[in-house]
Amino acid sequence: MIEAANLTKRYGEKTAVEDLSFTVRPGAVTGFLGPNGAGKSTTMRMIVGLDAPTAGSVTVNGRPYAEHAAPQREVGALLEAKAVHTGRSAYHHLRAMAALTGISRRRVDEVIELAGLADVARKRAGGFSLGMGQRLGIAAALLGDPTTLILDEPVNGLDPDGVLWIRTLLKDVAASGRAVLVSSHLMSEMALTADHLIVIGRGRLIADVSVAEFVARAARDSVLVRSPDAGRLREVLAEDGVVISGVERGLLDITGLTAGQIGDRAHAEDIRVHELTPQQASLEEAFMALTRDAVEYHGGTAAGPAHAARPDPDAANPIDLDDATTRATGNAPAATAAQTAGNQPGETTNQPGENTPAADEAADQAREFTTPGRTDR
Ligand SMILES: Nc1ncnc2c1ncn2[C@@H]1O[C@H](COP(=O)(O)OP(=O)(O)OP(=O)(O)O)[C@@H](O)[C@H]1O
Ligand SMILES: [Mg+2]
Repeated sequence: MIEAANLTKRYGEKTAVEDLSFTVRPGAVTGFLGPNGAGKSTTMRMIVGLDAPTAGSVTVNGRPYAEHAAPQREVGALLEAKAVHTGRSAYHHLRAMAALTGISRRRVDEVIELAGLADVARKRAGGFSLGMGQRLGIAAALLGDPTTLILDEPVNGLDPDGVLWIRTLLKDVAASGRAVLVSSHLMSEMALTADHLIVIGRGRLIADVSVAEFVARAARDSVLVRSPDAGRLREVLAEDGVVISGVERGLLDITGLTAGQIGDRAHAEDIRVHELTPQQASLEEAFMALTRDAVEYHGGTAAGPAHAARPDPDAANPIDLDDATTRATGNAPAATAAQTAGNQPGETTNQPGENTPAADEAADQAREFTTPGRTDR
């Protein structure tokens, strides 16, 4: 269990993490998402005491990391896979780490096996590929059989087999009652791996929700309906607030009614329906929409996420989420100003604290996604 309270980190003028509060609960995989430079790695470093917070605090299993007698047994962390002595073999790297906390040689062999490193364990770690280095880092994190696992971008460099392996591993670790915090840029991977998401942007909390809620809330609020009698269905459903557009012959895209309402009305009028599909945004679309104004480093093309589905608080029939999970907070959102696509890395167009209408809009969205009073776990 990780508990962060009002965590803030400044590097000179730069605020990397600002007033961040969250809890990573046992028994679940919590995905830690955010654009480049959002503050994910900084937060993870603060959790394990590698960086001191400027303000606020963070505990693991009720205490600051450094106050644990055997921290390796409390928290296993992969923060930087290259943090190994390049001249040492994987086996000796792990043996050295194990010796620090009295972990047995048998456990070293176990994690080597678990990480799929058996064939290369006696080779110099300096010669490892990116993926093998990641596996070694994960093996090191698992060494103390910790109750909390923190992995920064663990799938980076892994082949498809490795990605599947890490997905299964994280789910198993969580299922055994441990807490897992994992950062990733691969939204589709997070959709498959994580139960819960903490999303940050510009160091601030944007969302703290389950994966299902995150995607549901960003749903396009439209329903695709296929019917051999689409013309009559259109007439039956026409009313204020309902927008119906024809996609192709016999296929309608309808906003303003739920799939259930459409199905019921079609049934009442004896109209055959061959397909009734609520249109869900992908996790990636939801992420892009939510963090659009919190992205600091844009690529050189103008291919921004403007086309992505975005949560619309005023849309008809908003998804009905549990009150406890949608309570607004005083937390301001990440975005302080909208930025134009096409910025060069490191180039910003806003001043800290400057609020634009887009930022205010992002604030509204962010409040909808922030759920500090979560009671579901
Ligand atoms: N040691 C440091 N000194 C100065 N600035 C730092 C330092 N570490 C991080 N930063 C800055 O803090 C911000 C957050 O960085 P961080 O590495 O935590 O982001 P991140 O979310 O992990 O990004 P990425 O997805 O690219 O890994 C960035 O603007 C970064 O430049
Ligand atoms: Mg990082």
